[in-house]
Amino acid sequence: MNDIGVIVLAAGQGTRMKSDIPKVLHRLGGTPLFLHALRAAQQLEPSRIAVIVGHGAVAVQQAYSGDDLSWVIQEKQLGTAHAVLCAKPTFLGFTGDILILSGDVPLIHENTLKRLIDQHRGQQAAVTLLTAKLEDPKGYGRIVRDKQQIARIVEEKDASDLQKQIREVNAGIYVAAAPFLFPALSRVSDQNRQREYYLPDIVAIALSEGQTVANLQVDDAREMTGINTREELARMEKSLQEEINRKWMAQGVTLKDPTTTYIEQGATIGKDTVIGPNTHLCGTTVIGERCRIDGSAYLTDAQLDDEVHLRFSVVLTSCRVANGAIIGPFAHLRPGTDLGRNVHIGNFVEAKEARLGDGTKANHLTYLGDVTIGRDSNIGAGTITCNYDGFQKYKSKIGDRVQVGSDSTLVAPITLGDDVYVATATTVRHDVPDGALVFNDRQERLREGWTEQKRMKMKGTKK
Ligand code: UD1
Ligand code: CA
Repeated sequence: MNDIGVIVLAAGQGTRMKSDIPKVLHRLGGTPLFLHALRAAQQLEPSRIAVIVGHGAVAVQQAYSGDDLSWVIQEKQLGTAHAVLCAKPTFLGFTGDILILSGDVPLIHENTLKRLIDQHRGQQAAVTLLTAKLEDPKGYGRIVRDKQQIARIVEEKDASDLQKQIREVNAGIYVAAAPFLFPALSRVSDQNRQREYYLPDIVAIALSEGQTVANLQVDDAREMTGINTREELARMEKSLQEEINRKWMAQGVTLKDPTTTYIEQGATIGKDTVIGPNTHLCGTTVIGERCRIDGSAYLTDAQLDDEVHLRFSVVLTSCRVANGAIIGPFAHLRPGTDLGRNVHIGNFVEAKEARLGDGTKANHLTYLGDVTIGRDSNIGAGTITCNYDGFQKYKSKIGDRVQVGSDSTLVAPITLGDDVYVATATTVRHDVPDGALVFNDRQERLREGWTEQKRMKMKGTKK
């Protein structure tokens, strides 16, 4: 295969989004818009990639962590032709074909791009465009044909009423031979309604040079749908979500209510897992087999092994949960939490950087922060690991088979050995050796008839 280069257009503001964030950073399926197009292009293993940035350039660059592409700054957004021309230095000495993608057309598939390139090469064209026939072509550039042959493209804003009737549109995705492309771009003028340099004008330029212009029509118009407004973004999110949900159901996952199940592209789910309503699986979340997620769960980069049960309403972030664990209802597992097999985390329990051994339980109203707990220990209701003194964070270590009584505070740094017994409502400040009981010496006092006396007194003072 000949050398292929890629240019992704991502400099525009996206005025119609009415946003302070550049359009291409708005997320679809959890991923910034322009990364969808970029990833499709990367599948073709191009030798050079240039991403044109302008509006919010720094933020756009930060959204991509690789270093396998060139960022090209387009200072002023003078139009799509001008944007491509900015990449000229990146393609110095490059004689292959250049694929041009719009950062706001996210669902484009690598197979379609391959077919577009094949078509381009088969026809020995100077430029080949991706086109579509739409029921509602509004907003797109229309393909004007002259005796079946493509003659030029006219933008919606420049189109006559008659031209607006044309249903064949320009998808904004092109392949062009580099030796044709850059000289042609220099010839594009801004004599149009928007005073912009239009990339589609290279079509008419190619024809005027006696060169071939080819096109490929997409089968599924959704692939070439561009995002210009929030409404379009929401619609595409919905349709992408439906597609993802169908994929997981086809692979043996039960979604009780697919309309309120939000699975990002990076998440995976094992067979016979049952997912209740209002569940969000974000980032690189991995769910094992036969898990149960009751509902209202928000998971980001979480890893669940098999047969984990997430009861109603839990938030899990960057944590790992081993087989058979039961979490919630109303539990919060924060980053660095790693739970062993059959661990139980109950209501109103928060864990952060907490490693719990197999069979350990913390069932009620507890904060476990910066702590390692062995196996088969029981953390009573209201236990707090005091890991922070306002200056620094400290770690706690709790052994196997430890019983921590309710309402205890463990002041870190601290180590409790194996088989330790912490009496109810103990503030533990020092290490406790294996097998010891620890309690605070506080005398319990009792005053008979106190309540009655108190009430009489209060009555007496009332005016
Ligand atoms: C463009 C096409 C139109 C096509 C449609 C398909 C032009 C003039 N028109 O219209 O024929 O039907 O796409 O979706 O190309 N951009 C830059 N720099 C600029 C201007 C735009 O990088 O100076 C980027 C934008 O960020 C965006 C892409 O180019 O990612 C397309 O620009 P946009 O303004 O959305 O073009 P459309 O009006 O949709
Ligand atoms: Ca657009």
